[in-house]
Amino acid sequence: MSEQAHESAPIITIEHAAEHVGRLVTIRGWLYNMRESGKLLFPIFRDGTGVMQGVLSLKEQPDAFAALKGLPQESSVIVIGKIQAEPRAPGGCEIHISGIEVIQRVADSNPYPIQLKEHGVDFLLDQRHLWIRTPRQASILRIRAEAIRSARNYMDDLGYTLTDAPIFTPAACEGTTTLFEVNYIDDQKAYLTQSGQLYVEATAAALGKVYTFGPTFRAEKSKTRRHLTEFWMLEPEAAYAHLEDMIELGEGLVSTVVQAVVKNRARELATLGRDAAKLEKIVPPFPRITYDDAIQVLQKAGNPAKWGDDFGGDEETLISKQFEKPVIIHRYPAGMKAFYMATDPARPELALSFDMIAPEGFGEIIGGGERQSSYETLVQRLREHNLPEEAFEWYLDLRRYGSVPHAGFGLGLERTVTWICGTEHIREVIPFPRMLYRVYP
Ligand code: 4AD
Ligand code: MG
Repeated sequence: MSEQAHESAPIITIEHAAEHVGRLVTIRGWLYNMRESGKLLFPIFRDGTGVMQGVLSLKEQPDAFAALKGLPQESSVIVIGKIQAEPRAPGGCEIHISGIEVIQRVADSNPYPIQLKEHGVDFLLDQRHLWIRTPRQASILRIRAEAIRSARNYMDDLGYTLTDAPIFTPAACEGTTTLFEVNYIDDQKAYLTQSGQLYVEATAAALGKVYTFGPTFRAEKSKTRRHLTEFWMLEPEAAYAHLEDMIELGEGLVSTVVQAVVKNRARELATLGRDAAKLEKIVPPFPRITYDDAIQVLQKAGNPAKWGDDFGGDEETLISKQFEKPVIIHRYPAGMKAFYMATDPARPELALSFDMIAPEGFGEIIGGGERQSSYETLVQRLREHNLPEEAFEWYLDLRRYGSVPHAGFGLGLERTVTWICGTEHIREVIPFPRMLYRVYP
């Protein structure tokens, strides 16, 4: 392909191809699939931003035809051609090819392992580094990126400062049963963080309104469609904030993220076959029910739950089915919640906590509440929970020096994106999922 041809054919992305109808352009990508029909070739190219159908005839372009014919799937190519409107093609246009440069030809003897047919999920997970090339997986990852972008903007615009929490920690935050122990330098013990909360409580006392957003780890022995051992959490924390403030913040954050995806990633939602009309309804206010109410809802629906029980996936699904929007359940029994929770002065058996449960049975996306701000009560709680006080000395300092009411929550990124995408399993919404029995690739 001559330099001249490159100059007169600007490089474009498939995402923006429709803006170039009638023009000669260059697309740099990979051969996704190809139908050969005698003297005509109908390749489908992908470039990371989308897929586009091409047409090439032997008679008109013998050199390009020879280069493309028989080219194995996923060979990398630079394509020159004219964009033409084609209402039946995905994206509304196709490329009439005049030149092909093959960058790397996949060996005929060692074809691309993922064919365009149904594969088992274990096979696909082993091939995750290649699986992400398919339009469906690429769409999910783009939606994830949009969720992150919009979530951070929302927090930043509200005046929350990003203060990153550490990943190596000296102690548990969310119970000792799901801790990953790490052999730290010189045989010191450390743990992978389960939540950045304790650290954002410290930065909130320093900066007022803060959040952390990073990977968190749980040695979950559960093999459900909702659990990862490594997942990302956005955790806001604010000094002088109460339970109700955090419920409102969570509602604003979730609706903003959903509407940003609906607006900016409509194409990707369509690729996934996700009904955007359901997502358009996700605007504040969200329904709020107390834990007491939730037990009643469950019992009415024939579930055997009784006061004091924690909710599992089945219960969450039953409750969420009653609402079109995420539902907030607040004031859980204190006995089943973490050591740091504040209790309701009106009913001390209740924690000032809340969960947000996604609609359509996608489970808990947010957990949070108001923190225990009294030094004496917190020490007592640490003892009741059999937690090592030495490791929490620094945390107790936050109650020794200018303790204030404060509250926050954790939004599970992958749970949220799973719901937005309507995917069956959480493993598809993170580039490289870490689960029980899976740390490869
Ligand atoms: O409810 P959790 O355990 O709350 C906390 O960790 C608090 N310390 C957060 C805070 O107040 N700053 O976890 C918060 C959210 C859950 O609602 C869920 O969305 C997600 O994190 N989550 C998981 N996501 C994927 N896989 C897992 N194993 C998860 N465990 C929790
Ligand atoms: Mg929770």
